[in-house]
Amino acid sequence: MKNIYSNIYKNSQKNLNKAKNLLMKNHIVALPTETVYGLAGNAYKKAAIKKIFNLKKRPKKNPLIIHYNNLNDLKEDAYINSSFLKLYYKFSPGPLTYILKKKKKSKICPHANANLDTIAVRFPKHRDIKKLMKKINFPLAIPSANISSRISPVSAGDVIEEFGKKVKFILNGGRSKIGLESTVIKVSKEIKIVRPGLVLKKDIERVLKKKISFSKKMNKIISPGMLKKHYSPGIPMKLNCKTREDKAAFIVFGKRYKKSKNLFNLSKKGNLKEAGKNLYKTFRKIKNLKYKKINVIKIPNKGFGIAINDRLKKASN
Ligand code: TXA
Ligand code: MG
Repeated sequence: MKNIYSNIYKNSQKNLNKAKNLLMKNHIVALPTETVYGLAGNAYKKAAIKKIFNLKKRPKKNPLIIHYNNLNDLKEDAYINSSFLKLYYKFSPGPLTYILKKKKKSKICPHANANLDTIAVRFPKHRDIKKLMKKINFPLAIPSANISSRISPVSAGDVIEEFGKKVKFILNGGRSKIGLESTVIKVSKEIKIVRPGLVLKKDIERVLKKKISFSKKMNKIISPGMLKKHYSPGIPMKLNCKTREDKAAFIVFGKRYKKSKNLFNLSKKGNLKEAGKNLYKTFRKIKNLKYKKINVIKIPNKGFGIAINDRLKKASN
């Protein structure tokens, strides 16, 4: 298919080098990850970090996730502990973000982590971003590539919907496999999940050989500076609905629904992973079709369903 957008680039070596050169000049590029697409900039440089916050219209108090290619690079910036290491060897690279204590001598721009004494770090798995990170010698601050409080992008085209030509370079790495943001876990003092994702609480407990909990703040303010409303299509949304309404978009899950114009099935097979992957695409579709109201049936609150319900709750606030 011909690419009508001049700022979407296919994932060739040449274009990876182009992305590298832009990042080295403190420019911002949009990159694919296995969770969602992100806006990347040099985490060491204030000029780059400022651009990210401005583009996203992100509140300054809301810290960014710092993305690394390997453990060695992280050692300069954060204190490593045994719980982190156990989880790292099991789940990284992949969709798990760790909140660790930041080292005083760290070169991470203080604005990137909102002047906190912690940093959130992730080791992404997507092939293209890994290739790119091998070419550079600094970590990348990468929030999701959406305007603050709006729907996270899961394809290069979604990034265009958010930013148009304001982001000059978007690397096309295909549709994000997971489709919801990473699990975020605090492993600095107490161990707590602050954002649910594909890496599940029970999987983490199995590795750590102890019970952990979700942060009580998860349903209020997830992290410092984070607003309640999030991941939102900007349309009134009602959860746990049972029946179809004529004019409202109806988001469902499972095989017992007959096709109809305003019906959007997250997974006909009733598969939660597939449903999670389709959630943000479905929000975008409904928004672009100009529906004025969204009803959502009850999604099972287990496994990846916990992350889906977390995003639904925030989108419906
Ligand atoms: O899957 C993902 O994590 C994606 C991809 C692009 O990697 N990134 C992402 O970033 O979702 P963002 O900025 O949209 O969400 C980061 C979350 C926010 O809720 C932020 O408040 C929290 O992580 N966070 C970052 N640093 C933190 C810190 N030091 N303490 C507590 N929360 C933190
Ligand atoms: Mg985000």
